[in-house]
Amino acid sequence: MTNILLIKSSPRGGASVSSQLGEELVQQLQEQHPGAVVKVRDLASQPVPHITPDYIGGVFKPADQRSEQESQLVGYGDELIDELEWADHIVVSSGMINFSIPSTLKAWLDHVVRVGRTVQYTADGPVGQLGGRQLYLVLASGGAYGPERQAWEFQLSYLKQIFSFIGLQEPEVVCAQGMLAPAEIAEKNLGEARERIMQLGRAVVGA
Ligand SMILES: Cc1cc2nc3c(=O)[nH]c(=O)nc-3n(C[C@H](O)[C@H](O)[C@H](O)COP(=O)(O)O)c2cc1C
Repeated sequence: MTNILLIKSSPRGGASVSSQLGEELVQQLQEQHPGAVVKVRDLASQPVPHITPDYIGGVFKPADQRSEQESQLVGYGDELIDELEWADHIVVSSGMINFSIPSTLKAWLDHVVRVGRTVQYTADGPVGQLGGRQLYLVLASGGAYGPERQAWEFQLSYLKQIFSFIGLQEPEVVCAQGMLAPAEIAEKNLGEARERIMQLGRAVVGA
């Protein structure tokens, strides 16, 4: 049985390009894995709590020494990590907000990137624990971030780096850039992103 997790984070609801493309990619994956179980977490409509002093106070203590509130906050993050561990395919969709990711996605990352669970420090340095799963990053942005605008790009670069830290390396990437460019350009870029999704659907079965 294949498990697919879709994490959506755009605050733009039904107008979101990244959420729509993420759903289309999940459909492709489902076609390639009949009977796959799909879970969807929409961080924009159901945001996870930010990490707080109570969370930090609890997360580095043995479980039996946590207060009730600390246990609740750390337990919340545990559930998010369980969900990631459950998944074979993880699709993360994100619109660019202020050159980076939506703050709701950052809040989620602050829970799931956890020393002792998703990353272990060893004599050789940090070792991510979520290897063996396929990550897909499905991104949209208003502008375009070619080589000359790299200094402004903290979306794909950040997501690649942070997910590799927890062992999710070599993501497949779908990027719809220039969504606020003149319609002709935006439509062309969107078409290319959709073509990439179709390719990924075919790639799963090796076609
Ligand atoms: C609050 C806000 C901030 C944005 N900041 C940027 C930005 O810094 N750079 C950019 O290229 N586009 C920016 N955009 C445009 C979005 O990235 C674009 O609309 C994209 O389609 C958003 O993804 P979504 O369609 O999945 O919501 C911003 C949009 C909003 C609503």
